[in-house]
Amino acid sequence: MLLLRSVRAHQLLQLVSFLLFTLVYGEDSCPLQTPLYPPPRNLLSRQDVKSASKSLSQTIEEALTTGITDLGSLPLNTTTFAVKVFSSHTEDSIYEYIYTSPTYSPKPGAGAEKTALDSVYRVASISKLITVLTLLAHDGYTHWNHPITDFIPELDILARNQSSRLQWREVTLGDLAAQLSGVPHDSFLSGIVSEDPTFAPGTTAAYSNAAYQLLRYAMENITGTDFPSMFQNSIVKPLNLNSTSLLAPGNASVGIIPVNETVSVWDFDLGDGDAFGGAYSSAHDLAVIGRSILQSLSRSSALNLSSTLARHWLKPLSHTTSFKTSVGAPWEIFRYELPNRPNHVIDVYSKSGNLGAYADIIALIPEYDIGFSITAADLPTNPLTNVWGLADLIIDRLSPAFDKAAQQEANATYAGTYKVQGANSTTDSYVAITTDHYKPGLQVAEWVSNGVDFLQSLAALSGFEGLAVRLYPTGIEETVPGESSKRVFFRSTFDYDTSGQSKGVISACQSWLNVDGSRIGNIGVDEWVFTLENGQASSAEPRILRKRLRRL
Ligand SMILES: *[C@@H]1O[C@H](CO)[C@@H](O)[C@H](O)[C@H]1NC(C)=O
Ligand SMILES: *[C@@H]1O[C@H](CO)[C@@H](O)[C@H](O)[C@H]1NC(C)=O
Ligand SMILES: *[C@@H]1O[C@H](CO)[C@@H](O)[C@H](O)[C@H]1NC(C)=O
Ligand SMILES: *[C@@H]1O[C@H](CO)[C@@H](O)[C@H](O)[C@H]1NC(C)=O
Ligand SMILES: *[C@@H]1O[C@H](CO)[C@@H](O)[C@H](O)[C@H]1NC(C)=O
Ligand SMILES: *[C@@H]1O[C@H](CO)[C@@H](O)[C@H](O)[C@H]1NC(C)=O
Ligand SMILES: *[C@@H]1O[C@H](CO)[C@@H](O)[C@H](O)[C@H]1NC(C)=O
Ligand SMILES: *[C@@H]1O[C@H](CO)[C@@H](O)[C@H](O)[C@H]1NC(C)=O
Ligand SMILES: *[C@@H]1O[C@H](CO)[C@@H](O)[C@H](O)[C@H]1NC(C)=O
Repeated sequence: MLLLRSVRAHQLLQLVSFLLFTLVYGEDSCPLQTPLYPPPRNLLSRQDVKSASKSLSQTIEEALTTGITDLGSLPLNTTTFAVKVFSSHTEDSIYEYIYTSPTYSPKPGAGAEKTALDSVYRVASISKLITVLTLLAHDGYTHWNHPITDFIPELDILARNQSSRLQWREVTLGDLAAQLSGVPHDSFLSGIVSEDPTFAPGTTAAYSNAAYQLLRYAMENITGTDFPSMFQNSIVKPLNLNSTSLLAPGNASVGIIPVNETVSVWDFDLGDGDAFGGAYSSAHDLAVIGRSILQSLSRSSALNLSSTLARHWLKPLSHTTSFKTSVGAPWEIFRYELPNRPNHVIDVYSKSGNLGAYADIIALIPEYDIGFSITAADLPTNPLTNVWGLADLIIDRLSPAFDKAAQQEANATYAGTYKVQGANSTTDSYVAITTDHYKPGLQVAEWVSNGVDFLQSLAALSGFEGLAVRLYPTGIEETVPGESSKRVFFRSTFDYDTSGQSKGVISACQSWLNVDGSRIGNIGVDEWVFTLENGQASSAEPRILRKRLRRL
């Protein structure tokens, strides 16, 4: 290795070759499970997003007349609905669509004549999401792992009764919120004595409304405050929500009420079941709630939710039968891939609701800092399958445009050549960063250190084919008070081609094992920092070089 002039470079290459490589089949890459690029901020100015939105509207219109889309049957025209796609970076809608079915014709004063984005619908089980949000905003994870018997004295008495099959002392608040409690699907406290559990706590997710009613009582016990006040003080007031409540709005003219209040179940009072299914809201307010949760993931929002807590909350807690579905508290998590992004899963954190004439969904996609809400009503057809069909269409039509927007924004912000200032050609240190529609992350296209072609040397030393260094955002940013610049932290992977190796499940893409796996001094070989000024990268630091390279 005559090319290796510095001892450090030699050390580095050895460490890297032993510890850092990610196994990848063929030409694929093995990204970290982070967004591939920093989430895009200017979706509305992107031509791709505009065309995708147009295509989405055309497909919805097609479904309204034919009942069919390329994804399957979508008999939409008896359903009245409102759709809003939002981003955490703007209050403007990324996309909206409203439709009032000709079959919807309320009597004067007995319901809104036409839907709007702020029309009120029952949001049913989306209440569960609002309940957990209320709990977290009041108490964080303080009592999450405490047994429910600490808070509901009646259950403690039951727990002492040896003949009860439900092990109440083993059920925690977190189990109740994550649908891992084994509590029956529907039950009342008085009847719960004689009922069998569905599973032992922690076994598998099994949907339960009763679990959420218990959670409600526990929350009241913890805070000494009644649930409606908690809901009002931690969500409705700080977010300034005008169309969200636990009780039916006094003015029926704000609501979408098919046939009448009774048949649609508009005015059916669930009592203490409000915590699992009672709430009313609008597509607009759900978007405000969703946007605040997304904002909490990286900075402060109007909600009392720390970023760390929010990031823990948006994680799966159990699997389901489907590879594509996991369960959180109470997130219904769906996982999908884009054709141009192999080995990369995009997670959708959602909650659906369905009660009487109503069906709704709120969904968050942290990969792009976006989300969407759909409120819908129909009678006698249950609108839930239409809501899910619309959600499928939104993801199918808009995701490729969001992917492209993220890539192009990252390209505009970071792509280019970075060089040590004043260096001459024989002692040059420089890197070239690019992005690619088919390759994830920021690509390190060239990396020369003190005149040594680092990438080439690494490939020669290791004997690996198709070596590629790619950078992924960590979400860590550092701002200096009083300065307009900020430092944005990335971690890299070292991908190479392993076509010859085992294609079994254990040998699959496992990049997370190697993060920070190789260090020189106290610096991870995979750590990169960019300095941004006015949203544009001005310098790059592959931290092991201990040099700042200026963007040309
Ligand atoms: C409603 O959709 C059905 C197909 O689902 C179609 O046959 C019918 O013509 C549509 N009605 C209107 C008014 O577009
Ligand atoms: C905010 O949340 C923390 C726990 O995460 C809690 O201790 C505090 O009391 C909450 N503040 C309010 C106003 O509810
Ligand atoms: C204990 O449970 C059994 C069976 O459900 C019931 O018959 C009995 O009354 C319970 N005892 C107490 C003290 O609650
Ligand atoms: C909470 O429950 C405990 C018993 O488990 C009880 O002693 C306490 O008074 C309750 N607190 C409130 C505020 O209801
Ligand atoms: C509620 O209404 C007020 C007054 O019209 C408005 O300023 C506020 O933005 C609304 N809240 C939301 C969440 O849209
Ligand atoms: C009820 O709501 C409708 C629609 O928002 C509004 O026009 C009407 O003034 C409201 N009526 C009352 C009594 O507030
Ligand atoms: C609601 O509509 C149903 C079915 O059309 C009817 O039987 C019932 O009397 C109506 N209820 C009210 C309160 O108008
Ligand atoms: C990325 O930016 C570079 C230089 O700034 C430019 O040459 C290249 O065409 C851009 N690539 C894409 C995919 O936009
Ligand atoms: C360029 O690098 C060579 C070799 O290290 C050195 O001799 C020369 O002085 C450098 N020239 C300048 C202008 O820095």
